[in-house]
Amino acid sequence: MFVRRIAVVGTGYVGLTTGACLASLGHRVVCADVDALKVARLEAGQVDILEPGLAGLVREGATAGRLSFTVGARDAVRDAEVVFLCLPTPMGAGGAADLSAVEDVAAVIRDVLPYGCVVVCKSTVPVGTSTRVAALLDREDVAVVSNPEFLREGSAVRDFLHPDRIVVGSDSPQAAERVAALFAKLGAPTVLMDAASAEMVKYAANCFLAMKLSYVNAVAELCELVGADVTAVTDGMGYDKRIGGSFLKPGPGWGGSCLPKDTHAMVRIAEGVGVDFTLVQATIDTNVRQRQRVVDKLRAAVGPLAGTRIGVLGLAFKAGTNDLRDSPALAVAELLAFEGAELVAYDPEIDRPLVGMTVVDDPYVAVSGAAAVVLLTEWPQFRTLDWTRVASVMSGTTVLDTRNHLDPDALRRAGLTLRGVGRPV
Ligand code: UGA
Repeated sequence: MFVRRIAVVGTGYVGLTTGACLASLGHRVVCADVDALKVARLEAGQVDILEPGLAGLVREGATAGRLSFTVGARDAVRDAEVVFLCLPTPMGAGGAADLSAVEDVAAVIRDVLPYGCVVVCKSTVPVGTSTRVAALLDREDVAVVSNPEFLREGSAVRDFLHPDRIVVGSDSPQAAERVAALFAKLGAPTVLMDAASAEMVKYAANCFLAMKLSYVNAVAELCELVGADVTAVTDGMGYDKRIGGSFLKPGPGWGGSCLPKDTHAMVRIAEGVGVDFTLVQATIDTNVRQRQRVVDKLRAAVGPLAGTRIGVLGLAFKAGTNDLRDSPALAVAELLAFEGAELVAYDPEIDRPLVGMTVVDDPYVAVSGAAAVVLLTEWPQFRTLDWTRVASVMSGTTVLDTRNHLDPDALRRAGLTLRGVGRPV
């Protein structure tokens, strides 16, 4: 394998995972960020992102002399053969992706990129961005490649080192081959294509996943009304290889830093070319309704929510992360607070104050005096709470488990009334 000199611009969970994992494959990697404090912490081996295995890889890479950090992109790319852009592309005006970070960096590095290097867009960007980056760089000797990432927060290192596939797109087949070769050691199926197709793969995949979830959430709603059990239904569906068993768990709606942003961006992309992508719009609308359904269920169980104390278990958008971006749990809490509910919340990874609720550091304090408890994030430790103790400190008996995560027998034994999702009431 060729050892390459690589620069990674942006040290969020994608950039840092990419940098640390490429270093673990033997490459020499410099990671850059504009945040000097973050760089100093990383140089000291301190990783603030909750990502299993990442801190270990960062320290290993640094000790081996294969991984270093620097402030600013210019410095990082001076000596690079391949430059990865791992920058935020948040939801901008009207739902379209905001590309200003990518564009700013392209402008900053254009005149310091070494002759013949390859620039890789890893950020999720609309079709045509690689071409736009190439135009901004305006360097005939520099090829631009799209290499979308499929990393899930909370298992990013695992996903990087054991990918289902690697997608590399470029209008320069040599540049695409060069980038694909960086991952050769992983032995994953590699799909080479043009840049526009690679950019589209990412949106198409994330929107499909979101659609699968909205579909299953809608099926769960039907199950409640027709007397079926969604767990049995999804078991029965999942064995069909064409459907697949994963991403079939109903919940309070999907969220996080990617699926909401990418579904909105896809709708805008479609609109931009005159296509009414109603399927993706319906996926988003079903998700919004899902959050409201949680509130409706609580109201049905305990009556008007104004002044009612609700214990909230879980705030992160899924278990295993401390990420609150577009968290369905927060969206539900906001709706509850809007109706005047008094919220006391606990999440094992969140200890900062949040608007509209009291955040406590003990689950039993969160449920104390609560007319109802709502579980919104599937942290494993919630399954093993002492439910008899929970029952003894609550003022009511309703527990709404929006993830079908709890053991019904344990709650029944404690005298609590468990309401799940997609089960007959
Ligand atoms: C998602 C994709 O899964 C990754 O492949 C992609 O690389 C990433 O976005 C990205 O674009 O960077 P992530 O946002 O980390 O990854 O989270 P997921 O594990 O996909 O979960 C998304 C949401 O769906 C969460 O709110 C989760 O609780 C929910 N979910 C997931 C369910 O409600 N049920 C399921 O069965 C699975």
